[in-house]
Amino acid sequence: MIFDRVKPLDAILATAEKKALHRTLGGFQLMLFGIGCIIGTGIFVLTAAGAQKAGPGLMLAFAIAGAVCIVAALCYAEVASMIPVAGSAYTYSYASVGEFLAWTVGWALILEYAVAASAVSVGWSGYFSGTILNEFLGITLPPWLAAGPLALGGAPGGFINLPALVIAMLVTWLLMIGTSESAKVNAVLVLIKVTALTAFIVLTLTSADFDMARFNPFLPAGVFGGFGSGLGAVGAAATIFFAYVGFDAVSTAAEETKNPQRNVPIGLIGSLLFCTVFYILVAAGAIGTIGGQPIMGPGGIPFPAGSEELARQCALPAYSGALVCSDEALAHVLRQIGFSGIGNMLGIAAFLALPSVILVLIFAQTRIFFVMSRDGLLPERLSRVHPKWKTPHVVTMITGLIVALGAAFMPVGLLADYANAGTLYAFFMVAVAAMVLRVKDPHRHRSFRMPMVWVVAPLTVAGCLFLYLNLPLIAILVLPVWGAIGLVVYFGYSRSRSQLGRGVVEVVDEIGGEEKMVPIDPPTG
Ligand code: ALA
Repeated sequence: MIFDRVKPLDAILATAEKKALHRTLGGFQLMLFGIGCIIGTGIFVLTAAGAQKAGPGLMLAFAIAGAVCIVAALCYAEVASMIPVAGSAYTYSYASVGEFLAWTVGWALILEYAVAASAVSVGWSGYFSGTILNEFLGITLPPWLAAGPLALGGAPGGFINLPALVIAMLVTWLLMIGTSESAKVNAVLVLIKVTALTAFIVLTLTSADFDMARFNPFLPAGVFGGFGSGLGAVGAAATIFFAYVGFDAVSTAAEETKNPQRNVPIGLIGSLLFCTVFYILVAAGAIGTIGGQPIMGPGGIPFPAGSEELARQCALPAYSGALVCSDEALAHVLRQIGFSGIGNMLGIAAFLALPSVILVLIFAQTRIFFVMSRDGLLPERLSRVHPKWKTPHVVTMITGLIVALGAAFMPVGLLADYANAGTLYAFFMVAVAAMVLRVKDPHRHRSFRMPMVWVVAPLTVAGCLFLYLNLPLIAILVLPVWGAIGLVVYFGYSRSRSQLGRGVVEVVDEIGGEEKMVPIDPPTG
């Protein structure tokens, strides 16, 4: 049977190193960690795409996406506190709904982490080219080196996004030689990002240019833009959801948290609420000062964000200052309202802080591949650990190449939408896993139990489905197409090589650490 290979939780927990021994994180530290992973390209760059989809309704979009993430975060926290081993949503699914669905989650997580890392690289490239090269060094990159080809949604004259390619490779190299981000560096980067956003909010909301009239019409593309259009407030919510991706990293730290029942929700909900409020204020500041109405196409429908038509409109002088056309939305707003110097500082903040988001995402991807390879579902070669660096260098290099290719040739909006499709599937499955485990294993210790599971988990399932169905059609289709490729790989390669299928459960605690093999009886599958 296809659904019968479920990793026994007892075996996982018996062999997992008890991370509970190192409970060092408090609620505030957890919040800092969360904010470090969350704030990135979503707010610094995708604000422009969000405004093109929803106009001032972007503010509502941030609230909707934030609400879905808060309920999903509670599900993540509970399952992570119960199964504190590497592999995140993939491992949780393996232990609850079985290998087959776990494979689909692991496969979808490639979209979440690798493709999201490409998106953040492209976002970084906009700030690097605009602020560092252009403003400070007076260099303008030729168009063919600054963006992917128009045919793939890049800019007119674009061929390859060289800065995005280089940053993705650079971060990969750092990870290969064993760099990881320390809590101190993270705290400094959080401070830089939050200071930049706070300055933005204060300067825009108190600016003489701020005019409430710019919020009218508030919903120029309506609440629902129509299935597959990716437009309207909910279409923008589905895209801007990207701005919250990364909080799942916090829930995986549940087992390292002091008094998790109290601190995990503080850390998770705190960082998400903090970001939601900040994001809404940033959107209000941007729209109130320079306006954020979409560029309308025929029939009064906004041109799709990232489309060839929109790129052509943006090249016209009439739209040269438009928010929806900018590659470095927030710095652009400040420059437009006379704060060029501070706009450049904000550009530097993005330049410094975004690479750490890329690092976290590529790191997460390599760990998922690593665990899947140790489970036998991907070639064992992938999990080879470098003798000196003590890192899974093979899988890191392969991940880096995938990320760099996406970053070099595709536009940020499309990459973010693809990443969202995969992430929403993973969140959906984590909510399912939380419910399945409550039924199958109600008495097992959970250091964090979500309140009102039968309300919160179904809300997560519904919220993820809702956002997914409001993505642009191409992103909706990416998931089943990607999933179909995954099924071919699973049935063609992985299923017959699965460790669990051969009757062995392996648990990975630490890269380079001791492998623990537990034979189970009787073998499943
Ligand atoms: N939330 C992260 C970002 O916006 C992925 O860059």
